[in-house]
Amino acid sequence: MLSMQLKIYKDYQSLSEAAANEIVSLIKHKPAAVLCLASGDTPRLTCKLFATKAKQENLDLSQITFIGLDEWVNIPPDNEGSCHYFFQHEIFEPLQFSPGQVHLFDALSTDLNNECRKMDGLIFDKGGIDLMIVGIGMNGHIGFNEPGVSFDNYSHVAELDNTTTSVGQKYFKAAMTLQQGITLGLKHLQEAKKVLLIANAAKKAEVIQKTVEGDVTPSFPASIMQQHNNGYVMADEEAAGLLTAKNK
Ligand code: PGA
Repeated sequence: MLSMQLKIYKDYQSLSEAAANEIVSLIKHKPAAVLCLASGDTPRLTCKLFATKAKQENLDLSQITFIGLDEWVNIPPDNEGSCHYFFQHEIFEPLQFSPGQVHLFDALSTDLNNECRKMDGLIFDKGGIDLMIVGIGMNGHIGFNEPGVSFDNYSHVAELDNTTTSVGQKYFKAAMTLQQGITLGLKHLQEAKKVLLIANAAKKAEVIQKTVEGDVTPSFPASIMQQHNNGYVMADEEAAGLLTAKNK
């Protein structure tokens, strides 16, 4: 029996409001929560709304541990296409996070495996991830868990799929050589206490249909969501457009 739940929203705005509210309510209940967010076009509005709500409600964010889902290997943090840059501008600066509470992969490190082990160790030490919010790639990836990845991986370095390297160009001002990514693994996702996979727009309809209704298989990594007992696929009406009627 599948345990994942599907939630469909009218549009990108209401989907993002709901995801941002999840973050706010987690922090209200658990001020020392461990939060893992993805960067990318999909979570951008969630991050903006979270920042606005956190300020409006004067939330105490000082005990939060923030973990970045992934990063492009060899892309410096000040490049506007990097995940570092995204979080810096959408969350850390507006909400004045202190450097000690923020944990992102150093994708310029000469020892990327050590970066992975450090991230895994931090997550175990903190007692696991309370809330993870991820997007989905056009090849079904989550973070840089590319098609064929093991479901049992913790953090690792991935060779990027052709879809990822071409779609990924949209984040950069100039054409970029993208070959590898460093990412949390799907074992982290399985162990996270709550996971939201968010998707909007018609271009995501096919991958959402496979995520929700396809076989659970490493060749389509997001299908692992079906096995998460506190996992939610949150889609706007366009991204939910190819789901069979029983799921709508
Ligand atoms: P997007 O990226 O939110 O920019 O569509 C999703 C992803 O590749 O994970």
